[in-house]
Amino acid sequence: MEKLTAKKVVVTGATGGIGRQLVKLLHQSGAEVFITGRNAEKLNEIVVEFGLRPTHFFAADISNTEQMEAFGKKVHAEMGTPDILINLAGIGIIKSMDHLTAEEFSRSLNTNLLGTFLFVKTFLPAMKEVKKGLIINVPGVLGKVPMAGAAAYSASKYGIVGMMQSVREELKRTEIRITNLFLGGVDSPFWDTIDLKVQKDKMIREEEAARSIWFLCQQPASGVVSEMVLQPFNHQAI
Ligand SMILES: NC(=O)c1ccc[n+]([C@@H]2O[C@H](COP(=O)([O-])OP(=O)(O)OC[C@H]3O[C@@H](n4cnc5c(N)ncnc54)[C@H](OP(=O)(O)O)[C@@H]3O)[C@@H](O)[C@H]2O)c1
Repeated sequence: MEKLTAKKVVVTGATGGIGRQLVKLLHQSGAEVFITGRNAEKLNEIVVEFGLRPTHFFAADISNTEQMEAFGKKVHAEMGTPDILINLAGIGIIKSMDHLTAEEFSRSLNTNLLGTFLFVKTFLPAMKEVKKGLIINVPGVLGKVPMAGAAAYSASKYGIVGMMQSVREELKRTEIRITNLFLGGVDSPFWDTIDLKVQKDKMIREEEAARSIWFLCQQPASGVVSEMVLQPFNHQAI
Protein backbone atom coordinates (compact mmCIF):
# COMPACT_ATOMS: atom_id res chain seq x y z
CA MET A 1 0.00 0.00 0.00
CA GLU A 2 1.19 3.57 -0.74
CA LYS A 3 1.38 5.71 2.37
CA LEU A 4 -0.78 8.85 2.41
CA THR A 5 1.48 10.69 4.84
CA ALA A 6 2.31 14.15 3.44
CA LYS A 7 0.62 13.33 0.11
CA LYS A 8 -0.90 16.48 -1.37
CA VAL A 9 -4.53 15.79 -2.24
CA VAL A 10 -7.12 18.10 -3.83
CA VAL A 11 -10.77 17.16 -3.34
CA THR A 12 -13.69 18.75 -5.22
CA GLY A 13 -17.22 18.21 -3.93
CA ALA A 14 -15.68 18.14 -0.47
CA THR A 15 -18.84 19.51 1.15
CA GLY A 16 -20.92 16.62 -0.22
CA GLY A 17 -21.90 13.40 1.50
CA ILE A 18 -19.01 11.30 0.17
CA GLY A 19 -16.50 14.16 -0.02
CA ARG A 20 -16.81 15.15 3.62
CA GLN A 21 -16.20 11.59 4.82
CA LEU A 22 -13.28 11.22 2.44
CA VAL A 23 -11.60 14.43 3.59
CA LYS A 24 -11.77 13.14 7.16
CA LEU A 25 -10.15 9.80 6.22
CA LEU A 26 -7.41 11.41 4.14
CA HIS A 27 -6.57 13.92 6.86
CA GLN A 28 -6.51 11.21 9.53
CA SER A 29 -4.05 9.27 7.34
CA GLY A 30 -1.62 12.19 7.28
CA ALA A 31 -2.41 13.63 3.83
CA GLU A 32 -2.29 17.37 3.18
CA VAL A 33 -5.80 18.01 1.89
CA PHE A 34 -7.05 21.05 -0.06
CA ILE A 35 -10.82 21.23 -0.47
CA THR A 36 -13.27 22.98 -2.75
CA GLY A 37 -16.99 23.33 -3.44
CA ARG A 38 -19.17 26.39 -4.02
CA ASN A 39 -20.08 27.12 -0.40
CA ALA A 40 -17.28 28.91 1.48
CA GLU A 41 -19.07 28.64 4.82
CA LYS A 42 -19.45 24.86 4.59
CA LEU A 43 -15.83 24.50 3.45
CA ASN A 44 -14.64 26.56 6.41
CA GLU A 45 -16.72 24.40 8.77
CA ILE A 46 -14.98 21.27 7.45
CA VAL A 47 -11.55 22.88 7.77
CA VAL A 48 -12.26 23.78 11.40
CA GLU A 49 -13.99 20.51 12.34
CA PHE A 50 -11.27 18.23 10.94
CA GLY A 51 -8.34 20.53 11.68
CA LEU A 52 -7.18 21.04 8.08
CA ARG A 53 -4.76 23.88 7.38
CA PRO A 54 -6.80 27.12 7.51
CA THR A 55 -5.47 28.18 4.09
CA HIS A 56 -6.52 24.94 2.40
CA PHE A 57 -9.97 25.73 1.04
CA PHE A 58 -11.32 27.79 -1.82
CA ALA A 59 -14.90 28.28 -2.97
CA ALA A 60 -15.34 27.89 -6.73
CA ASP A 61 -17.93 26.77 -9.23
CA ILE A 62 -16.26 23.88 -11.04
CA SER A 63 -17.99 24.83 -14.31
CA ASN A 64 -16.64 28.40 -14.27
CA THR A 65 -13.34 28.85 -16.13
CA GLU A 66 -12.23 32.01 -14.27
CA GLN A 67 -13.10 30.63 -10.85
CA MET A 68 -11.19 27.41 -11.60
CA GLU A 69 -8.17 29.43 -12.73
CA ALA A 70 -8.23 31.33 -9.43
CA PHE A 71 -8.65 28.04 -7.55
CA GLY A 72 -5.65 26.54 -9.37
CA LYS A 73 -3.49 29.54 -8.47
CA LYS A 74 -4.50 29.31 -4.81
CA VAL A 75 -3.70 25.57 -4.64
CA HIS A 76 -0.32 26.06 -6.33
CA ALA A 77 0.52 28.93 -3.96
CA GLU A 78 -0.49 27.08 -0.80
CA MET A 79 0.51 23.52 -1.63
CA GLY A 80 2.49 23.22 -4.85
CA THR A 81 1.83 20.36 -7.27
CA PRO A 82 -0.82 17.92 -6.04
CA ASP A 83 -0.04 14.20 -5.88
CA ILE A 84 -3.70 13.19 -6.08
CA LEU A 85 -6.78 14.82 -7.63
CA ILE A 86 -10.18 13.53 -6.52
CA ASN A 87 -13.23 14.87 -8.29
CA LEU A 88 -16.49 14.47 -6.37
CA ALA A 89 -18.29 17.60 -7.58
CA GLY A 90 -21.44 16.58 -9.38
CA ILE A 91 -25.18 17.07 -9.69
CA GLY A 92 -27.87 14.53 -10.41
CA ILE A 93 -30.66 15.62 -12.75
CA ILE A 94 -32.77 12.52 -13.29
CA LYS A 95 -35.78 13.26 -15.52
CA SER A 96 -37.38 11.61 -18.52
CA MET A 97 -36.98 13.24 -21.93
CA ASP A 98 -40.59 14.47 -21.64
CA HIS A 99 -39.64 16.65 -18.68
CA LEU A 100 -35.93 17.33 -19.15
CA THR A 101 -35.22 20.89 -20.34
CA ALA A 102 -32.30 22.05 -22.46
CA GLU A 103 -31.17 24.21 -19.52
CA GLU A 104 -31.07 21.16 -17.22
CA PHE A 105 -29.22 19.13 -19.83
CA SER A 106 -26.62 21.92 -20.21
CA ARG A 107 -26.29 22.36 -16.45
CA SER A 108 -25.64 18.65 -16.04
CA LEU A 109 -22.96 18.67 -18.75
CA ASN A 110 -21.44 21.91 -17.46
CA THR A 111 -21.08 20.74 -13.89
CA ASN A 112 -20.25 17.07 -14.38
CA LEU A 113 -18.34 17.05 -17.66
CA LEU A 114 -16.99 20.55 -18.36
CA GLY A 115 -16.25 20.77 -14.62
CA THR A 116 -14.16 17.60 -14.77
CA PHE A 117 -12.35 18.94 -17.83
CA LEU A 118 -11.55 22.25 -16.09
CA PHE A 119 -10.45 20.53 -12.88
CA VAL A 120 -8.09 18.15 -14.67
CA LYS A 121 -6.81 20.85 -17.02
CA THR A 122 -6.02 23.12 -14.07
CA PHE A 123 -3.48 20.70 -12.60
CA LEU A 124 -2.33 18.56 -15.51
CA PRO A 125 0.56 20.81 -16.69
CA ALA A 126 2.19 20.73 -13.22
CA MET A 127 1.60 16.98 -12.90
CA LYS A 128 3.09 16.44 -16.36
CA GLU A 129 6.19 18.33 -15.31
CA VAL A 130 6.81 15.90 -12.46
CA LYS A 131 5.45 13.04 -14.63
CA LYS A 132 3.46 11.46 -11.83
CA GLY A 133 0.18 11.67 -10.00
CA LEU A 134 -3.21 10.05 -9.59
CA ILE A 135 -6.54 11.35 -10.89
CA ILE A 136 -9.72 9.80 -9.54
CA ASN A 137 -13.15 10.50 -11.02
CA VAL A 138 -16.47 9.00 -9.99
CA PRO A 139 -18.59 8.48 -13.10
CA GLY A 140 -20.77 6.07 -11.14
CA VAL A 141 -22.63 3.09 -12.50
CA LEU A 142 -24.67 5.44 -14.72
CA GLY A 143 -21.43 6.25 -16.52
CA LYS A 144 -21.32 2.63 -17.68
CA VAL A 145 -24.89 1.35 -17.89
CA PRO A 146 -27.96 3.40 -18.82
CA MET A 147 -31.13 3.93 -16.79
CA ALA A 148 -34.46 5.41 -17.85
CA GLY A 149 -34.55 9.10 -16.95
CA ALA A 150 -30.78 9.47 -16.89
CA ALA A 151 -30.21 11.00 -20.34
CA ALA A 152 -28.61 14.17 -18.96
CA TYR A 153 -26.74 12.50 -16.11
CA SER A 154 -25.48 9.54 -18.16
CA ALA A 155 -24.44 11.81 -21.04
CA SER A 156 -22.24 13.73 -18.60
CA LYS A 157 -20.85 10.65 -16.87
CA TYR A 158 -20.24 8.61 -20.05
CA GLY A 159 -18.51 11.77 -21.26
CA ILE A 160 -16.11 11.67 -18.31
CA VAL A 161 -15.21 8.08 -19.15
CA GLY A 162 -14.52 8.87 -22.82
CA MET A 163 -12.62 12.03 -22.01
CA MET A 164 -10.41 10.37 -19.39
CA GLN A 165 -9.70 7.40 -21.68
CA SER A 166 -8.44 9.86 -24.26
CA VAL A 167 -6.38 11.76 -21.66
CA ARG A 168 -4.92 8.42 -20.54
CA GLU A 169 -3.60 7.90 -24.09
CA GLU A 170 -1.95 11.34 -23.97
CA LEU A 171 -0.24 10.52 -20.69
CA LYS A 172 1.30 7.19 -21.61
CA ARG A 173 4.84 8.53 -21.32
CA THR A 174 4.23 9.69 -17.77
CA GLU A 175 3.34 7.90 -14.54
CA ILE A 176 0.12 9.82 -14.15
CA ARG A 177 -2.51 7.23 -13.29
CA ILE A 178 -6.21 7.60 -14.01
CA THR A 179 -8.87 5.78 -12.03
CA ASN A 180 -12.61 5.72 -12.66
CA LEU A 181 -14.81 4.62 -9.78
CA PHE A 182 -18.19 3.24 -10.81
CA LEU A 183 -20.29 3.64 -7.67
CA GLY A 184 -23.87 2.48 -7.37
CA GLY A 185 -26.36 4.34 -5.19
CA VAL A 186 -24.88 5.97 -2.09
CA ASP A 187 -27.14 7.32 0.66
CA SER A 188 -26.10 10.97 0.51
CA PRO A 189 -27.73 14.40 -0.02
CA PHE A 190 -27.23 13.75 -3.76
CA TRP A 191 -30.70 12.14 -3.81
CA ASP A 192 -32.47 14.97 -1.96
CA THR A 193 -33.41 16.88 -5.11
CA ILE A 194 -34.15 13.80 -7.24
CA ASP A 195 -37.80 12.89 -7.68
CA LEU A 196 -37.42 9.10 -7.71
CA LYS A 197 -38.47 6.37 -5.31
CA VAL A 198 -35.23 5.00 -3.89
CA GLN A 199 -34.49 2.67 -0.99
CA LYS A 200 -31.87 4.66 0.87
CA ASP A 201 -31.50 1.97 3.53
CA LYS A 202 -30.30 -0.45 0.82
CA MET A 203 -27.72 1.97 -0.58
CA ILE A 204 -23.99 2.11 0.12
CA ARG A 205 -23.18 4.26 3.14
CA GLU A 206 -21.29 7.53 2.57
CA GLU A 207 -18.42 6.36 4.81
CA GLU A 208 -18.05 3.14 2.82
CA ALA A 209 -18.03 4.97 -0.51
CA ALA A 210 -15.39 7.34 0.92
CA ARG A 211 -13.36 4.39 2.18
CA SER A 212 -13.27 2.90 -1.35
CA ILE A 213 -11.70 6.13 -2.67
CA TRP A 214 -9.29 6.25 0.28
CA PHE A 215 -8.34 2.66 -0.62
CA LEU A 216 -7.76 3.63 -4.27
CA CYS A 217 -5.41 6.42 -3.15
CA GLN A 218 -3.17 3.87 -1.50
CA GLN A 219 -2.69 1.39 -4.34
CA PRO A 220 0.92 0.70 -5.36
CA ALA A 221 2.22 3.20 -7.91
CA SER A 222 3.83 0.47 -10.03
CA GLY A 223 0.38 -0.38 -11.39
CA VAL A 224 -2.88 1.40 -11.98
CA VAL A 225 -6.43 0.56 -10.96
CA SER A 226 -8.08 1.88 -14.09
CA GLU A 227 -11.58 0.97 -12.91
CA MET A 228 -13.34 -0.07 -9.75
CA VAL A 229 -17.02 -0.96 -9.32
CA LEU A 230 -18.82 -0.74 -5.97
CA GLN A 231 -22.57 -1.33 -5.93
CA PRO A 232 -25.28 -1.93 -3.35
CA PHE A 233 -25.58 -5.66 -2.83
CA ASN A 234 -29.24 -5.81 -3.84
CA HIS A 235 -28.86 -3.62 -6.91
CA GLN A 236 -26.03 -4.81 -9.08
CA ALA A 237 -26.43 -3.16 -12.48
CA ILE A 238 -23.00 -4.14 -13.78
N1 LIG B 1 -24.67 9.47 -4.23
C1 LIG B 1 -24.72 8.55 -5.18
O1 LIG B 1 -25.59 7.66 -5.21
C2 LIG B 1 -23.65 8.54 -6.27
C3 LIG B 1 -23.52 7.36 -7.05
C4 LIG B 1 -22.56 7.36 -8.07
C5 LIG B 1 -21.78 8.48 -8.30
N2 LIG B 1 -21.94 9.60 -7.54
C6 LIG B 1 -21.11 10.76 -7.82
O2 LIG B 1 -20.26 10.98 -6.72
C7 LIG B 1 -20.01 12.39 -6.59
C8 LIG B 1 -20.29 12.82 -5.15
O3 LIG B 1 -21.62 12.49 -4.84
P1 LIG B 1 -22.30 12.75 -3.39
O4 LIG B 1 -23.21 11.62 -3.16
O5 LIG B 1 -21.27 13.09 -2.39
O6 LIG B 1 -23.16 14.04 -3.76
P2 LIG B 1 -23.57 15.33 -2.90
O7 LIG B 1 -23.68 15.00 -1.45
O8 LIG B 1 -24.76 15.91 -3.59
O9 LIG B 1 -22.31 16.31 -3.10
C9 LIG B 1 -22.06 16.92 -4.33
C10 LIG B 1 -20.87 17.86 -4.19
O10 LIG B 1 -20.66 18.52 -5.44
C11 LIG B 1 -20.50 19.91 -5.20
N3 LIG B 1 -20.95 20.65 -6.37
C12 LIG B 1 -22.14 20.57 -7.02
N4 LIG B 1 -22.18 21.43 -8.04
C13 LIG B 1 -20.98 22.07 -8.05
C14 LIG B 1 -20.41 23.09 -8.84
N5 LIG B 1 -21.08 23.65 -9.89
N6 LIG B 1 -19.16 23.52 -8.56
C15 LIG B 1 -18.45 22.99 -7.54
N7 LIG B 1 -18.95 22.02 -6.73
C16 LIG B 1 -20.20 21.59 -6.99
C17 LIG B 1 -21.35 20.18 -3.97
O11 LIG B 1 -20.90 21.31 -3.26
P3 LIG B 1 -21.67 22.74 -3.25
O12 LIG B 1 -23.13 22.48 -3.47
O13 LIG B 1 -21.33 23.31 -1.91
O14 LIG B 1 -21.04 23.48 -4.37
C18 LIG B 1 -21.06 18.95 -3.14
O15 LIG B 1 -19.87 19.13 -2.42
C19 LIG B 1 -20.85 13.08 -7.66
O16 LIG B 1 -20.06 13.33 -8.78
C20 LIG B 1 -21.89 12.03 -8.01
O17 LIG B 1 -22.34 12.17 -9.35
C21 LIG B 1 -22.85 9.65 -6.51
